Amino acid sequence: MSDEISSVPQPAAPEPAHHSAGRPRIISLANQKGGVGKTTTAINLGTALAATGELVLIIDLDPQGNASTGLGIDRASRKSSTYDVLIGEISLREAILPTAVPRLHIAPSTMDLSGLELELGHARDRAFRLRNALASLNGSGTDDAYTYVLIDCPPSLNLLTVNAMAASDAILVPLQCEFFALEGLSQLLQTVEQVRSTLNPDLSIHGIVLTMFDARNNLSNQVVADVRQFMGKKVYDTMIPRNVRISEAPSYGKPVLVYDLKCVGSEAYLRLATEIIQREKELRAAS
Ligand SMILES: Nc1ncnc2c1ncn2[C@@H]1O[C@H](COP(=O)(O)OP(=O)(O)OP(=O)(O)O)[C@@H](O)[C@H]1O
Ligand SMILES: [Mg+2]
Repeated sequence: MSDEISSVPQPAAPEPAHHSAGRPRIISLANQKGGVGKTTTAINLGTALAATGELVLIIDLDPQGNASTGLGIDRASRKSSTYDVLIGEISLREAILPTAVPRLHIAPSTMDLSGLELELGHARDRAFRLRNALASLNGSGTDDAYTYVLIDCPPSLNLLTVNAMAASDAILVPLQCEFFALEGLSQLLQTVEQVRSTLNPDLSIHGIVLTMFDARNNLSNQVVADVRQFMGKKVYDTMIPRNVRISEAPSYGKPVLVYDLKCVGSEAYLRLATEIIQREKELRAAS
């Protein structure tokens, strides 16, 4: 990873990250560890934000395409994808599809994305492909301007994740309540630091969300205590419980909030969205 960043040439960043009106908040769901709840959080946080009136775009940046499948976009309907966007064939707008959730859209991914790194080779702008694509997303005067963009990253610190970090205002880290959680976290934080010092000085850590929490499990409780001690206020108050409804929902192509609004998993994601909106307000007030 450090090679990945240091070998990226340092052209002038194409568009400075700014926070003018009409520009969405761009948040990456990132953790190089697999199966920690990145995609589940992208889908359900996206749904919860859309439910509160935000216009939300999920960018599926994982060749596995779980966010696309989980939102009911079958492979046959993915005529174009984030791969086509990143190689410069089409604009991001052209890749976007609506979902069954009002105000929630997705730019789906396909397996092609796994070959991107090789294809881009040493292109000078290879770390800025997504950032450039996003720069033209909310054109002036459009009434369909996204207010949030959530980027679902693959479980790796590869060029795709670097593109996501270079394009983002902030990183949201889902962390599974299990023994090795903190070990992976320091590596992730190091990467964020590297991206900040080379590609994107404005990148921040939005917060850490503890996922798959099981109150009956002593280890889960211990991990929560450790992470809160280590990361302090960066850890959201809301924890996402281990909940079978959350894991069932994607097989129906639905967010859990649509599949079973009343379950504890849905309630947790609604609380998380409220907390994130609150944190956003505080950030705006402070800037
Ligand atoms: N709170 C939860 N309770 C129960 N199951 C969950 C919960 N969160 C996620 N899962 C399940 O755990 C698995 C991994 O979740 P998810 O796909 O969101 O992780 P990920 O970090 O995106 O994985 P990957 O690294 O492969 O992209 C999925 O089967 C998902 O349905
Ligand atoms: Mg995923």
